[in-house]
Amino acid sequence: MIHAVRGVHDILPAEAAKWARIEATARRVFEAYGYEEIRLPIFERTELFARGIGEATDIVQKEMYTFEDRAGESVTLRPEATASLLRAYIEHGFHVHRLKPVKLYTMGPMFRYERPQAGRYRQFHQLNAEALREEHAALDAEVIAMLIEFFRELDLGSRVALQINTLGDAKCRPLYRERLTEYLRAHAAGLCPECRERTDRNPLRVLDCKNPACRSVLDQAPSIHDSLCFECAQHFLDVRQYLEAMGIASEVNPRLVRGLDYYVRTTFELTTTELGAQNAVAGGGRYDGLIERLGGPPDPGIGFAIGVERVALLLADMREDDWEHRRPVAFLIPIGDEALKRLLAVARAVRTTLPIELGYGNRKLRSELERAHKMRIPWAVIVGETELAAGSAVLRDMEAGQQQQVPFPELARRLMELGGRS
Ligand code: HAM
Repeated sequence: MIHAVRGVHDILPAEAAKWARIEATARRVFEAYGYEEIRLPIFERTELFARGIGEATDIVQKEMYTFEDRAGESVTLRPEATASLLRAYIEHGFHVHRLKPVKLYTMGPMFRYERPQAGRYRQFHQLNAEALREEHAALDAEVIAMLIEFFRELDLGSRVALQINTLGDAKCRPLYRERLTEYLRAHAAGLCPECRERTDRNPLRVLDCKNPACRSVLDQAPSIHDSLCFECAQHFLDVRQYLEAMGIASEVNPRLVRGLDYYVRTTFELTTTELGAQNAVAGGGRYDGLIERLGGPPDPGIGFAIGVERVALLLADMREDDWEHRRPVAFLIPIGDEALKRLLAVARAVRTTLPIELGYGNRKLRSELERAHKMRIPWAVIVGETELAAGSAVLRDMEAGQQQQVPFPELARRLMELGGRS
C-alpha cells in the first residue's frame, strides 16, 4: 500500500466543507477591502525565492523543494506566495497601468521541508494578501484591520491576539544589527549552538529563539526601538494611532522579527494560545525595496499570509447546519432498469437546484430505505413495475412512514417544492 508523503495530508470531505467556508470568508472580506484575486504558479525559478526571501533564511537554506527540470533548469515549489506575486506584478506591468495601491490576493498550497508536527506540515495552505505602491502608514493599519476582520467573521476574533513590531529600514537597521551582533558575541557563552551560528549570519533571527537559556540573554539585548531613525519611528507611531482609531488592540513585541528577510518597518503576527508550539495563525509585514530587488520599480508593499490548516484547527468541528443545506431532499429508489431510466431523468432535473440521491435498482427496497434513513433524508421516491404501469411514483415521508402517489410529470416539481426551491 502506498501512503501519502510525510508532512503532506488529505483534506477529507468534512474538513473540505470547513475549508470552503474559510476560503469564502477570505474572498468576501478581501474583496470588501478592494483586493482582486490573482492565481499564481506552484513552482518558479529557484532564483526568485533565493533573491526574494533571502539567502540567509532557514527557508532558503534548508526548507525548499528544489529540483532540476528536464532541461536542467533549477525550479522550486513555492515556499510562500509573496515573491511569486511580486514577480507577476512586475512581469505584467501592474506598476504601469494600474491605479495605486494595487491590491491582490491569492490562495493555495505552499511547500516547506520542515519537521512535521501538529499544525506544521510540508505541504500547507495560505490565504495571502498584498497591497503595493503605497507607503502610507494608514495602509499598514488597514491591512491589519482586514486580517482581524477575517478572523472576526469566522467567530475567532477573541481567540487570536495581534502582535506588532517595526524592524527599521535600510537606513537605521544596519546600525541596530551591529549593536545586536556585538551584544550577542559578548554573550555567546549563554546562547544555544544555533543562535551562536546565527549571530553572524542572521542576528535578528536570534531574537526569535524559544530556548529558555537564550531567552534570559535576549531579555537584556538592545531593542530595535532604541535604534530607529526618525522616519521609521514616526511610521510606527502612525500605524499604532491608526489601529487605535479603528479600535484594534495590539501588543508591541520588539522581538517579532519573522522568518523572511524582506521585511522593513512594520511586522505583525496573529497568535493563539490554543495550538501549542505552532502559535502563529497569520503573519506579515512591509517589504519596501523588495520589488526593486526582484528587478521591478522601487515600489513599496505590505501584506500577510494566513495559515489555513491552523485556522481549520481553531474552528470547532463542523456544525450540523453546515451539512444541512447539502442534505439530499429525497432518495430515489428504482426497482429494475426501466424504473432507473425514469428516475435518472427526474434526478437530473431536480439536481439543477437541489441535492438528491439515487439508487441504481440493484438492491432490495428495504436496504435502500435503510440507506435513506441512515443519511437522514426526509423523503423517498419508490418506482417499481406497478408504479410504471400506473404512471405515478410512490412518495414516502420517511419520518411519518406515510405514502402518497405522485404522477410522473409532476414528480420533479413536487420534489423541488419539498426542498423549498420551486
Ligand atoms: P510566514 O510567517 O512564513 O509568512 O507564513 C504565514 C503563515 O503560514 C504562518 O503564520 C502559519 O500560519 C502558516 N505556515 C507557515 N509555515 C507553515 C507550515 N509548515 N505548516 C502549516 N502552516 C504554516 C509568509 O509566508 C509571508 N509570505 C507572509 C507575507 C505576505 N508577508 C508579506 N506578505
